[in-house]
Amino acid sequence: MPLQQAKPPLPSDDKRWKLVNATMRRYGYADHALIETLHSVQDAFGFLDETALRFVAGSLDLPLSKVFGVATFYHIFMLKPKGRHACVVCTGTACYIKGAGALLDGIHTRYDINPGDTTDDDRLSLLTARCVGACGLAPAVVLNGDVLGKQTAETLTTRLEALD
Ligand code: FES
Repeated sequence: MPLQQAKPPLPSDDKRWKLVNATMRRYGYADHALIETLHSVQDAFGFLDETALRFVAGSLDLPLSKVFGVATFYHIFMLKPKGRHACVVCTGTACYIKGAGALLDGIHTRYDINPGDTTDDDRLSLLTARCVGACGLAPAVVLNGDVLGKQTAETLTTRLEALD
């Protein structure tokens, strides 16, 4: 039996990593799972940051440079946004039904940005994800890594205004 390479531990107990891991497991951690895995990171987190890229590279036993290369080559992948604060609005089915569109509209009205944009002062980046694993709290937002549940345009704008 071939020696199994030890897999790196999940970067944190955020359960979204389990979704990413499940994708890699489904492909037997083969290197051709890379693009699907990057999709699953983006679907869960809204963007790809260095922690995610390192985790994926270690799990699939690929050089980090290759993973960075693929992530930056395909424009469909969004690298960590440049704003000081990252607001990821979940637009998955549960959140969509419960009003994710109103959250995006509220942010657009207040800051004049769309998903993928950053405010001119680099204060806030807006992203979307396909499910952040908090469907029971729909509509959910992940603000700087913290899950905020049952948001309205008003509560979310208030949170965003309170940021430095
Ligand atoms: S659909 Fe939004 S958390 Fe699952």
